[in-house]
Amino acid sequence: MEDALHIHAEAYLRHGVKVIREYGEVPAVSVDKHKVLQILVNLLSNAKYACDADAKEEKCVWVRIEVTENQLRVVVRDNGTGITPENLTKIFQHGFTTREDGHGFGLHNGANIAKELGGSLGAQSAGSGKGSAFTLQLPLSPAVSPPVPSGMATRQPGKFGVDVAAGLPYTLSR
Ligand SMILES: Nc1ncnc2c1ncn2[C@@H]1O[C@H](COP(=O)(O)OP(=O)(O)OP(=O)(O)O)[C@@H](O)[C@H]1O
Ligand SMILES: [Mg+2]
Repeated sequence: MEDALHIHAEAYLRHGVKVIREYGEVPAVSVDKHKVLQILVNLLSNAKYACDADAKEEKCVWVRIEVTENQLRVVVRDNGTGITPENLTKIFQHGFTTREDGHGFGLHNGANIAKELGGSLGAQSAGSGKGSAFTLQLPLSPAVSPPVPSGMATRQPGKFGVDVAAGLPYTLSR
């Protein structure tokens, strides 16, 4: 998650979008880092566009990482434009975009990748102007290791980091 945020850091700063981290206690999970990164980078990009296209005084994106029902759950939520109920049924279709410079590939690819990883990618929005939340669920694979001892994989204390273990698969850990 921090790698994805880092990629967007400058754009978020330039557009005045505030990031609020809500990181829970999560065990180390083996995942394909590049695949997960692809999903998260698009979600953060979409959230930034949604905030930009909305006139709210404070533009915020919340990133939450938690374990629920034996799944790793990553939620990217924004207080941007929101999504109409009609569009909510279309946003995962290949080529669906409402942006002039969009391609409509990001969510479609993201949902496919999530599925490939044994998880899912879902969207929630209360409607136009009400912000959106995207939830990436990934299984806590059988290869779940116990929580990483502090200092081993964490870049910043208390923050979710990405530990590049020797070769693939990478380890996502706090
Ligand atoms: N956070 C969000 N808030 C509001 N609408 C969103 C949000 N995320 C996605 N959408 C809607 O879903 C559409 C599809 O998103 P998707 O990421 O698939 O494509 P895109 O961002 O338009 O283009 P790209 O292929 O470059 O990612 C967007 O054009 C937008 O209408
Ligand atoms: Mg996109």
